This record gives sequence, structure tokens and C-alpha cells, in this order.
Amino acid sequence: MSIHPIIKMGHPTLRQVAKPVARNEIDTPAMNALIADMIETLHDAGGIGLAAPQINQPLQLAIIEVPGGPSRYGEIEPIPLTVFFNPVLTVLNSEEAGYWEGCLSVPGLRGFVYRPQHVRVDYMDASGNAASLELMGFLATVVQHEFDHLAGKLYVDHIRDMTQLVFEEEWLAHQAQEDQP
Ligand code: NI
Repeated sequence: MSIHPIIKMGHPTLRQVAKPVARNEIDTPAMNALIADMIETLHDAGGIGLAAPQINQPLQLAIIEVPGGPSRYGEIEPIPLTVFFNPVLTVLNSEEAGYWEGCLSVPGLRGFVYRPQHVRVDYMDASGNAASLELMGFLATVVQHEFDHLAGKLYVDHIRDMTQLVFEEEWLAHQAQEDQP
């Protein structure tokens, strides 16, 4: 296993549409080694999600692990470490809410982004089996952020008010407290 460098906004791979992964490429030694590296890289970076394009692998693959518990977004349900191949997102309710998002590929910044808060994700798991998850609230935002990476998008693309793109250290000093629910 090894930790990979995380590429940053400006690297062309982050703006490509990632390639779907064929069923027979899933659960192979090479793919499982890539997933193990992504997990190690995510843990090293201290994030809650990582998409393969962020380590310069333009594949429809992302991992998410949300510890859950109390947070500035209120009590959050956990998502155990989950591997998503070829995820398809369906909005079940278009009602939106905004969160201050951050991204390992846009280090040091935070931006306020509105997204639908009730979605379903259909995907293949690490064994290549079809799976589905229904998510609400902050977790719906997390999956949309990660799957944007597979479409060559970044959270900054969704910021409606550019005064709400800020450096994290200033946000922590001046805004984070006010934005608690
Ligand atoms: Ni990101």
C-alpha cells in the first residue's frame, strides 16, 4: 500500500469525465490495490471522501467514510467506509440546503454550496455487486461532492455568491461559529 499525492485544482485530470469501470475490472488484485491506496491516502489526508481522479486515476471510483456524531452540521449519521464504482445519482427531492464545503484538491479554502438534500445512489460495490443507498441532509451533500469529481466538476463551480469562497483559516476565525445550525 502507498499514499498517493492528491492533485489540485488546475490539474487537467480533475476536469475530465472519468471512465466507467467494467464489471470484470472490479475485485481484481490491481483494482483492490488501488482501493487500498485510496483508503490509506484518505486517512493520511484526514478527509471524508476521495475520488480516484484526485489521485490522477480518471476512473468512476470514489470512497466515502463519514465518522458521524456531533458536528457543526448537527448530529450526523455515519457512513462506514464505502466503495462506489460507476455511481448514478438520482435526486429524490430537489429541496436544497447549503453547507460550507472543502476539498482535498482545493486545500485551504471553503465555499458555501447549495445542493439537493435527498438523493439515491445506485452503484457497484467493491465486489462488483449492484447496490443502492438513500441519503439525506449533509450526507446527500457529501456524495454529490464526491461524484462531481467523476464528472470533472469541483465544488467551486456551484458557488453562487463568490463572497462565500474563503480561506479556511479566516472562516474558522470569523464565520464558522455563526453558521452553526
Ligand atoms: Ni473534493
